[in-house]
Amino acid sequence: MSPSPLPAESLGFAFADEALESRVRDGLESVERELHDATQSEAPFVTAAAQHVMVAGGKRFRPLLVLLAAEFGPSPAAPEVIKSAAVVELTHVATLHHDDVMDEAALRRGSSTANARWDNSVAILSGDWLFARASDLVADLGPEAVRIQARTFGRLVEGQIRETLGVGEGQDPLAHYLSVVADKTGSLIATSALFGARYAGAPEEVQESLRAFGEEIGVAFQLADDILDIASESDQSGKTPGTDLREGVPTLPVLIFRAQADPTQPDDARLLALLDSDLSDDARLAETIELLQAHPAFRQAEDDVRRRAADARKLLADLPEGPAREALDSLCDLVVTRSV
Ligand code: IPE
Ligand code: IPE
Ligand code: MG
Ligand code: MG
Repeated sequence: MSPSPLPAESLGFAFADEALESRVRDGLESVERELHDATQSEAPFVTAAAQHVMVAGGKRFRPLLVLLAAEFGPSPAAPEVIKSAAVVELTHVATLHHDDVMDEAALRRGSSTANARWDNSVAILSGDWLFARASDLVADLGPEAVRIQARTFGRLVEGQIRETLGVGEGQDPLAHYLSVVADKTGSLIATSALFGARYAGAPEEVQESLRAFGEEIGVAFQLADDILDIASESDQSGKTPGTDLREGVPTLPVLIFRAQADPTQPDDARLLALLDSDLSDDARLAETIELLQAHPAFRQAEDDVRRRAADARKLLADLPEGPAREALDSLCDLVVTRSV
């Protein structure tokens, strides 16, 4: 019997090394068990609400990164590694519950969001509960892990708050956007890489190299996600296309477009007017997506993601060579080419 697909395979990830693949496969299975055990409540409704998004799929990108980073230490399969992978995924899913309330999203991982399935209160409270479960698990890893987790979550939430507030007076919109992305997404992906290295017993300088790599690949990952919001269909992404546009969250292609738009040029003028209008109207949203996809700004945004992924790849040079480094290297390509 062929082994069941890895969640990471939905990302298009293929391992070049069989032994590494088998270790990561086992690790991801253990993480799934940990996630299920950690989300059992005595109240059946709480379990159902907390597990709804968690079990709907997802790429498990953060646990995958924990496990690959753990390969740089002497104990890649340590129980602490598995636990830390469950911590980052639980934290991630908790933030998805809250993010989908903020973004009024109905679809996530090809399934209903918690807010659509129930309502905002259930989505927020079950998100809080998931975060509580993550905190409980991280306490087993000791006070330093609790501090890292608290600071990571603080950064992530600050990113979400700053995105909601929008760019300040006199602030560069692109710089604001990139710092929001680093905080809301880079933070947890950086911590995923750090946790894997740390709990596998890797030397401190290796932990730091992997943390820095995680931050950089995390930013590229979010930039790619923002492009997919405009470029991909929901049967691929599992989300509703154009959500950022509809919610008025300016992302890379829009920011590049705005910086160079020529209002005397009819297509640019039309796109500017659309972007400033109410995009809850489906026909207007579809036209906006079409014009944006055809604009050179869109190609430039894709080039930026490629550049970011190349920057992340350079950070791997400090790490010991081997199959794990090669796997991280191919992750840099995948972040650019991914369609989910
Ligand atoms: C979605 O994260 C939110 C972002 C930070 C882009 P993922 O793209 O990792 O979502 P899942 O876990 O695969 O559903
Ligand atoms: C998600 O940001 C980031 C966090 C949950 C912290 P987005 O709103 O851009 O992600 P998607 O597109 O809903 O997955
Ligand atoms: Mg969202
Ligand atoms: Mg959001």
